[in-house]
Amino acid sequence: MTKPVIILGIESSCDDTSAAIIADEQELSCVIASQDVHKKYGGVVPELASRAHLQNIVPVVDTAIKNAGIKKEDISAIAFTRGPGLMGSLLVGTSFTKGLSLALDIPMIEVNHLQGHVLSHFIQQKDSNKKQPEFPFLCLLVSGGHTEIILVHDYLRMESIGKTIDDAAGEAFDKCGKVMGMSYPAGPVIDKNAALGNPKTFKFNKPIIQGLNYSFSGLKTSFLYFLRNHIKAEPDFITNNINDLCASLQATITDILMDKLIKASKETEIKEISISGGVAANSGLREAIKNEASKRKWKAYLPELKHTTDNASMIAIVGYYKYLLNDFARHDLPPMARFEI
Ligand code: KG4
Ligand code: ZN
Repeated sequence: MTKPVIILGIESSCDDTSAAIIADEQELSCVIASQDVHKKYGGVVPELASRAHLQNIVPVVDTAIKNAGIKKEDISAIAFTRGPGLMGSLLVGTSFTKGLSLALDIPMIEVNHLQGHVLSHFIQQKDSNKKQPEFPFLCLLVSGGHTEIILVHDYLRMESIGKTIDDAAGEAFDKCGKVMGMSYPAGPVIDKNAALGNPKTFKFNKPIIQGLNYSFSGLKTSFLYFLRNHIKAEPDFITNNINDLCASLQATITDILMDKLIKASKETEIKEISISGGVAANSGLREAIKNEASKRKWKAYLPELKHTTDNASMIAIVGYYKYLLNDFARHDLPPMARFEI
């Protein structure tokens, strides 16, 4: 039997420091250190994020190697997030990778974070044989920083066919949550409250945007004005209606996302449909995908919850496919805050 390719993945693009080990497509370990320091500021503070990455990266990588039951000498290559993301955060992962690659004398592989989210569907767990999408497939990538429909031709050949022209879907969750007094990130809290509410109680306007693009900034503004108007008449309006507000907001965001995804599937005639990114953990969106799948004969792929938010296994899996092509990075490669898919 040939020895598996062992990839160490490193992710540090935003506010999670993560390291993972995969053997071919199988995840052996994945460690994530989240940064609570941003909670009180209502969003990620870049300077604090890079400082926290500096503190976390060595213990996180060390734990990932230990948890995988391997030695650092077993690693075939290191895959790291080159971008997109916060420059200071990316610098920590990139510089650490360069140092370790030189010390171990193994290649390093640059990874586009967005490709990582898309290929998270290919990560296999021990003793499970997860069904992987067939090419070509569509991926609705929805996170705190991105909202895009991606046409995936092959592991490393992807094309963005629609994207947000302003805020991302995760940002809409977080910003609307903030005006309801929730701390960052509000998405998971809105999801929880929505389960207890009626999604038809309140109606919010949906944007009219050409083609397959999205827009979420209008929703955020109209939600804010809607709350202000109601609070004038009823000061405890938010507390009294929190579950219905969350359910109605979540249903609106889900509808906006689904409308364009359905359009994309019709236009491309592709029925292999997947979602990824932090917002792919949302139960309303997951339910909507399942419903449309049975109605439209889609084959739908929902990521494991632990692979929806930022994680290094998704970086490692991209690294694995690039390793097979000997697609290695030079040591003088700078990180890129902006990086198209
Ligand atoms: O992919 P991710 O970890 O980071 C980025 O690359 O942005 O996504 C984080 C985003 C946040 O906006 C968070 O509120 C949202 O994902 N999120 C959710 C849920 N879980 C995370 N939004 C709605 N429902 C959820 N269950
Ligand atoms: Zn992400």
